[in-house]
Order: sequence, then C-alpha cells, then structure tokens
Amino acid sequence: LEQSQVEKFDLLSSRIFLGRGAVEHLPEVLDSIKIDGKRYFLLTDENTHDHCLPLLANYLPEDIPEFKLIPGENSKNLENAERIWRWLIECKASRGDVLINLGGGVVSDIGGFVASTFKRGISYINIPTSLMAQVDASIGGKTALNLASAKNQVGSFYQPHAVLVDTMFLESLPQDHIRNGYAEIIKSALLTGQDRWNQTREKRWDVTNEWSALISDTVKMKAMIVARDPNEAGIRNILNFGHTLGHSFEAFSLEAYPPGLLHGDAITYGMIGELFISWRMGHICWSEMVEITSFLRRNFPEPPFNADDKLKLLEIMTHDKKSRFQSIKISTLKKIGEPLWGIDCNEENLIKAIDYVLKDKQA
Ligand SMILES: NC(=O)c1ccc[n+]([C@@H]2O[C@H](COP(=O)([O-])OP(=O)(O)OC[C@H]3O[C@@H](n4cnc5c(N)ncnc54)[C@H](O)[C@@H]3O)[C@@H](O)[C@H]2O)c1
Repeated sequence: LEQSQVEKFDLLSSRIFLGRGAVEHLPEVLDSIKIDGKRYFLLTDENTHDHCLPLLANYLPEDIPEFKLIPGENSKNLENAERIWRWLIECKASRGDVLINLGGGVVSDIGGFVASTFKRGISYINIPTSLMAQVDASIGGKTALNLASAKNQVGSFYQPHAVLVDTMFLESLPQDHIRNGYAEIIKSALLTGQDRWNQTREKRWDVTNEWSALISDTVKMKAMIVARDPNEAGIRNILNFGHTLGHSFEAFSLEAYPPGLLHGDAITYGMIGELFISWRMGHICWSEMVEITSFLRRNFPEPPFNADDKLKLLEIMTHDKKSRFQSIKISTLKKIGEPLWGIDCNEENLIKAIDYVLKDKQA
C-alpha cells in the first residue's frame, strides 16, 4: 500500500522515486546496476547517521562501509573529498562500485563530486534527507565543492543512477532546515505560475507537515527544465533565480557571521534583491515585486548584515560573479511564471539591490 504512493520517472540517466516509501525501492535500484561483484559504500554526516540510517537499515546491504562527515557547509571542501577518495582506495573500491549518499545537499554535492571523479566516475545514488536536498540539491546532477569561502567553485555535471526522495526523513529535520528547503519551493513556484504560487504561499511552512505535493511539484518542475538543458547552457539558468546575489550573501556570511546563513535564507535575500533589480530595469511591476518581497520578508529572518557590510558584499559580488564577458548576470522574473535569465546587471543596480534587501535594518 505504501509503495503505491511512490511516483517514478526517468530524468536523463537517473530513475527518480518520489513519495513516502521511496526507500523501499532501494534493493531493486541496487539490483538494476548490472555489474558483477559490485560493492556499495555509504556517505553520511553525523546527523543523518543518527537519524536517517536506522530508517534505511532494512534496505541496505549488511556491513556496508560508511564514511561520516561533520555536518555543515564547511565540510563541502577539497580536503574532505580527498579523505573520501583515500577511504575508497583503502577499502579497495573499484570502478564498478556504487556510492550511496544519505544526507542533505552537502552530502549529495560532495558525494556526487567524489563519485564523478573517483576512477573517472563510479555510479552513485542520492537519498536526500533534508527538504533542500529533496526538492533541489539531489536532483539534476550538479555536484560541487567550495574553495575557501567561494561557493561551488569546483564541480561537475554527473547524473546519479537513482534518487529516492522519501518524506519520512523530514520528521527529524530541525525547523530552520524546513524553512531552508521551503525557500527553493517558493522559487520554483514563482518560476512556474500564479496557481502554484497561490498554493505555496498558503502553506504555512512552520506549521504543516504535509510536504508531499509541494515536493512532487518542485521536483517535477526542476526535472522538466534539467531534461531540456542538462548542462545549463540556456534555460536551466532560470533555476538560478536569487542565486547570483544569494551566493554572495552566503559566502560573506560564512566569513563575517559564522556559522553563516542557511542556503535557503541566503537565496531568499537574493530573490528580494534580484526582483528589485528587475523592477529597476523596467521588467516586473512595482506591486508584484512588493507582494513577493513582503511575503519573503515575513517568512524568513532578517539578514545578519548591515549597512557597514555593503562595500564588502559588493566586492564579493563583483569578484566572484563576473562572467566571461565581465558583466554580472542574474536570473529574475518579469512576472510570476515568466522567468528571465542572462540579465546584465551593473554595479549601481547591485548597490541599490543590497540597499533594498537591507531596507528595514537601515530604517
Ligand atoms: N547541487 C545542486 O543542484 C544544489 C542545489 C541546492 C543546494 N545545493 C547545496 O546544498 C547545500 C545545502 O543543503 P542542505 O540545506 O541540505 O544542507 P546540509 O546537507 O548541511 O543539511 C542541513 C542540516 O540538516 C541535517 N540533516 C539533514 N537531514 C536530516 C534529517 N533528516 N534529520 C536531521 N538532520 C538532518 C544535516 O546534518 C545538516 O546539519 C549547499 O551546499 C548548497 O550549495 C546544491
């Protein structure tokens, strides 16, 4: 009965399982990798080891070797990637073996990267356990590491063999990480259209535990875009709405306000700033921009930075984000359901956007 609630579809070379009971399909997923004598390796962090691994135990091979990361964004680095490569070598892992990533976006990003590079690429499976990873990070094959405080500077496009999105894991997820994933659900709804935006804003993220429908809509929307543009040469850029400014906020906060912002909070400020730029450039109308940004301000905490941080933020934006043509490009909205991407953004617009994000703090 449980299994009948699980939706299944293919995205490029990945098989996606969505819904409560998705992990029950793990044995069949492992069997579907037709390599004789293959072995499995498990990547977790301390939290997913404690809270999620026990829920998976019935479906995993016995005595599976496990590598456990310290939780958090700071673990997504080259040193840890090297530790995992070395561990795989010590365990005598070979080309036909399979890495299973059980965790949030940090685990799937670094695990996917390690899988894409170890012996020139081994199979991997994502079992996302945070809302952020379930709706976004585990889907679409983008893998990444941070270099110092610069986000996602090293990475690859490498599709998982399968992704099992099971909502049962969310029961142990702390509330602020629910809010974190909700930010990507909002982004996806805004990119899609008025109906999804209405359904999403009606959902009180801090009260509900009914996430299945929103997760399913968000994953399918992402899958549709990724299938059209797997390597982000064009339309996949719409999914970066909020991310150009957001990554700068995130990187800056890691340095200046440790332990730093959650990714979802950072891209929320990014969406506020990038919508303001859209309005300044004559794309979105004032009332729609205010409707969306007010909703975001009501549902997310105030940014930790203040007016004194403005120059440093601008420096990070202009340093990290210059594209090959030396201009900064953002993805934003013309209106709800009408995304824009590749929008050139000058320094004045960036400064005004930071001011607008901080407007309540300066008042
Ligand atoms: N590759 C992509 O397309 C993509 C997309 C979005 C985000 N990301 C990346 O994902 C990362 C953010 O993901 P995240 O928010 O999942 O971070 P995360 O992996 O750090 O997880 C958040 C926290 O929740 C804990 N946790 C996870 N699942 C849990 C559970 N079920 N119960 C209890 N605790 C649990 C983790 O241990 C961690 O402390 C960032 O590095 C971001 O760049 C990647």
